[in-house]
Amino acid sequence: QTGHFTYDPGFTSTGSCESGLTYIDGDVGQLLHRGYSIEDLAEKSDFMEVCHLLLNGELPTPKEKEKFVHDVTYHTMLHEQLANFYRGFRRDAHPMAIMCGVVGGLSAFYHDSTDIHDEHQRMVASFRLIAKMPTIAAMAYKYSVGQPFNYPRNDLSYAENFLYMMFAVPAEEYVISPTVARAMDRIFILHADHEQNASTSTVRLAGSSGANPFACIAAGVASLWGPAHGGANEAVLNMLQQIGHKDNIPEFIERAKDKDDPFRLMGFGHRVYKNYDPRAKVMQKSCHEVLEELNLDDPLLELAMELEKLALSDPYFVEKKLFPNVDFYSGIVLKALGFPTSMFTVLFAVARTVGWVAQWKEMIEEPGQKIGRPRQLYTGPTARDYVPLEKRG
Ligand code: SDX
Repeated sequence: QTGHFTYDPGFTSTGSCESGLTYIDGDVGQLLHRGYSIEDLAEKSDFMEVCHLLLNGELPTPKEKEKFVHDVTYHTMLHEQLANFYRGFRRDAHPMAIMCGVVGGLSAFYHDSTDIHDEHQRMVASFRLIAKMPTIAAMAYKYSVGQPFNYPRNDLSYAENFLYMMFAVPAEEYVISPTVARAMDRIFILHADHEQNASTSTVRLAGSSGANPFACIAAGVASLWGPAHGGANEAVLNMLQQIGHKDNIPEFIERAKDKDDPFRLMGFGHRVYKNYDPRAKVMQKSCHEVLEELNLDDPLLELAMELEKLALSDPYFVEKKLFPNVDFYSGIVLKALGFPTSMFTVLFAVARTVGWVAQWKEMIEEPGQKIGRPRQLYTGPTARDYVPLEKRG
């Protein structure tokens, strides 16, 4: 792309930006998307409506929704050459490693036809990314278990189609439970966007140079993978399995408080929330609903609730305002829905793609948008003369 990028001290002096997509009040535990509360959206809306809201600023009218869903649905297929890309990975490759590679690989197909300064082409790139992420994710899972890929189906909703591509096998008809599909859709809503978190900031910084959106989203996938960020949902389940029994909780709470012990209560604490993450409340409710509907009794849920109760009665967690975050219960729901822990962060990436894309689009459409350039506080040596090799040591 042409465009002229100049250094902008204002943007980078604090690394902050202006955005109208998502508002978080960490002190009271409030999360709004374009003014609508996450509780309302999770209970009353669906993921396609939330995607439209984040991208276009308003909930869609019935006609707008029909067109939006059509535009996403008709971009779900992946180029067959990209299917070949999977065959280069080991079968036991972590699905997030595959996501980093394949999502970046989308650039090879669309970079040349994506002028980021053309509004229509920005929207097409947005639809392609939102539509293809579930397909890419499901293919990563199928590849890891040695099962054939499922092509997307246009007769299914976004969440149903993802579950179908993930779990259908040729040998039998795949029956989609409405409760499971609703829970999946709600999980997508809860993870859609979250202001300037680490992965979104990564996408913005990458995009500020004019890089194509497919490469920028691949950068976001890489950042989300970290256990301090999107990787926490997988880490929570591993932690609960490590704790094993409620009698062991006090020992692990003490370890989490010990600065010399690397153990942290995964799913607890947040850079912004100094109160309960509103998404965690909805996720916990979803947990109960799904386990009840599927007639499952997961001892890890009882263990998680006991851990939450004991941690929130401990002065360390209360004083440091460490509450459960979105990742604390999500792993239990995802496990109940049949996903392996290795796919938990992949699901987070699928859902967060709309937030990354909407934030990227908002930045590109900003009048006078400039390249980001974070500042540093130099702590190295002052200027000094070169010392020839023979005079060193
Ligand atoms: C996500 O930014 C986003 O919006 C992210 C996200 C999104 O939607 O994009 O919300 C998704 O990433 C949620 C967070 C998932 N990560 C985890 O659950 C991993 C466990 N949590 C911690 O790693 C931690 O809480 C962070 C990384 C989330 C935040 O770390 P900070 O910035 O250090 O938290 P803080 O400043 O509020 O910590 C205050 C104190 C610190 O101790 P002191 O330096 O004051 O002595 O509490 C300690 C921290 O060391 N602390 C913990 C802890 N989290 C913070 N101690 C024990 N267990 C924890 N989980």
